[in-house]
Amino acid sequence: MKQIQWRSFGFGVLALSMLLFAAALITVLTGAYDVAADDRHTPLVGWGLDTTMRNSVQSRADNLTTPAFTPAMIASGAGEYKAMCQHCHGGIGAERAEWAGGMRPHPPALASAAKGWSPEEVFWLVKHGIKMSGMPAFGGSHDDPTIWNIAAFVKAMPTMSAERYAAYASEGGDHGNGDEAGQAHHN
Ligand code: HEC
Repeated sequence: MKQIQWRSFGFGVLALSMLLFAAALITVLTGAYDVAADDRHTPLVGWGLDTTMRNSVQSRADNLTTPAFTPAMIASGAGEYKAMCQHCHGGIGAERAEWAGGMRPHPPALASAAKGWSPEEVFWLVKHGIKMSGMPAFGGSHDDPTIWNIAAFVKAMPTMSAERYAAYASEGGDHGNGDEAGQAHHN
């Protein structure tokens, strides 16, 4: 008797798994899910993607060791940030580019979002990027010390004044200050 109950339970689980798998496959193959960036994710998909991203970054950044951040590193990271990140993530008192507002996921304002990530996680995010989000991997074009400078700057952003932020623009002369995309094209 007991054995029969277990057997029907097993069949139930198997049938349910096959049904879920078929539903997933049908969704993938028929284009039922709307990938348009101007259409919000359903809450379940949004939660799944965000939680997957956070846990993935957390577990992979776990074994990194952050160097002690110095003002020189922050200043150097500022020049990089203004040249490569501000148009998507904005600065302090500096808007992101208009087109970046049409991205999904939205590139968050790091002036506040940086609080939610450890320095190791910021380093990892900048080096490796995030699949299917538009967040590029900078590891192919930048060495680790440069990426630590960027992480030092990003972690300093939440307590930085707009004046301080603007002052870095004139200091980090070699990259220009981000709102000069037009100028960069002439170079
Ligand atoms: C082309 C646009 C783009 C550029 C350029 C870009 N990012 Fe991103 N970034 C994104 C998007 C989009 C996300 C959101 C990903 C997500 O939520 O899954 C993101 C996420 C992040 C996050 C995680 C924040 C969070 O709370 O989700 C950090 C940290 C980050 N970027 C740092 C940087 C830094 C530093 C640079 C420059 C070296 C940079 N990004 C350049 C688009 C960009």
